Amino acid sequence: MMRRSYAWATLAVCAAALSAVGCTRMPGYPKHGPEVVRPDEVKDFATLYAQNCAACHGKNGTGGAALQLNNPAYLAIAGEVNLRTVTAKGVKGTLMPAFAQSAGGMLTDEQIDALAKGMLAAWARPAEFAAVTLPPYGDSTPGNAANGQKVFVEACARCHGADGTGAKAANGQSQPKGAAKDTILDHSALALVSNQSLRSLILAGRPDENVPDWRSYITGPNARALTSQDVNDMVAWLAAHREDQPSEPVQAGSGQASAQTTAKPAGMKEAQ
Ligand code: HEC
Ligand code: HEC
Repeated sequence: MMRRSYAWATLAVCAAALSAVGCTRMPGYPKHGPEVVRPDEVKDFATLYAQNCAACHGKNGTGGAALQLNNPAYLAIAGEVNLRTVTAKGVKGTLMPAFAQSAGGMLTDEQIDALAKGMLAAWARPAEFAAVTLPPYGDSTPGNAANGQKVFVEACARCHGADGTGAKAANGQSQPKGAAKDTILDHSALALVSNQSLRSLILAGRPDENVPDWRSYITGPNARALTSQDVNDMVAWLAAHREDQPSEPVQAGSGQASAQTTAKPAGMKEAQ
């Protein structure tokens, strides 16, 4: 009895709160506080990020459906120019929208600039990378999938299993800490991300999941950093798993379905 009435009370409070939010958004409702800022006049990074990016890249860049952006290794490798270009133009064939007005988006060049500079100011740690030789953000040298599979076994198997389907517990041992549970070779998931996105992920790792960056995947007596070519090769191996997918999304205007077997899958894009 009591419990139920508490539940109802909570719901009622929530509903009131929700409708209050709704009301303040209604046209003509008197606003309190400072003058309302027109959307294209917002210059503050935190606001721009929260309104435009957080839904996919996580609150404060912590990652979500899309890449973790508050990763200092990622920001060091990508740099301001790439951050600005991707934010402005988006990535064709993926869920990353173009934000610049010149590319059909809603943001001014000044706002794009505030985002690119703001990500670096808020989350980069340039001092940590000052003495580090960074791999290039993009690399258009073709990758060798067969070699990529070998490097994958060396660098990634402890968490993903040698075949990418997830590390399994061997001989009654417990699964390694932080190991991935799902396959990373799922056709439809791979079809949604570009090669550059796979490259960025491998280069920069995922601090939130304890995935290292390019310098420290390979540990032990043969420890070495991944080379740019290693990464290209692994991307080629991963990308090969999306190629036989029959129902991959077709880019607008890319012609007949028969083109799909030879054309690059929609999500693929050369490193820029
Ligand atoms: C420390 C463990 C660990 C290592 C080492 C590791 N990964 Fe992962 N990886 C993960 C986890 C955890 C996920 C998230 C999987 C999930 O959500 O089920 C992941 C996800 C991924 C994804 C899917 C995309 C995404 O963002 O979820 C890809 C692709 C991937 N890893 C590639 C690699 C490659 C290539 C290597 C080697 C260079 C590697 N990983 C090394 C733990 C690791
Ligand atoms: C609807 C979801 C969505 C929204 C909203 C979104 N992104 Fe993305 N973003 C993505 C996806 C998906 C990718 C990976 C694209 C690919 O496969 O290359 C991406 C990629 C990126 C990359 C490139 C990552 C790399 O590999 O180098 C940057 C930088 C980026 N987004 C910044 C932003 C910023 C800044 C905003 C807000 C202005 C934003 N994104 C909003 C989904 C989104």
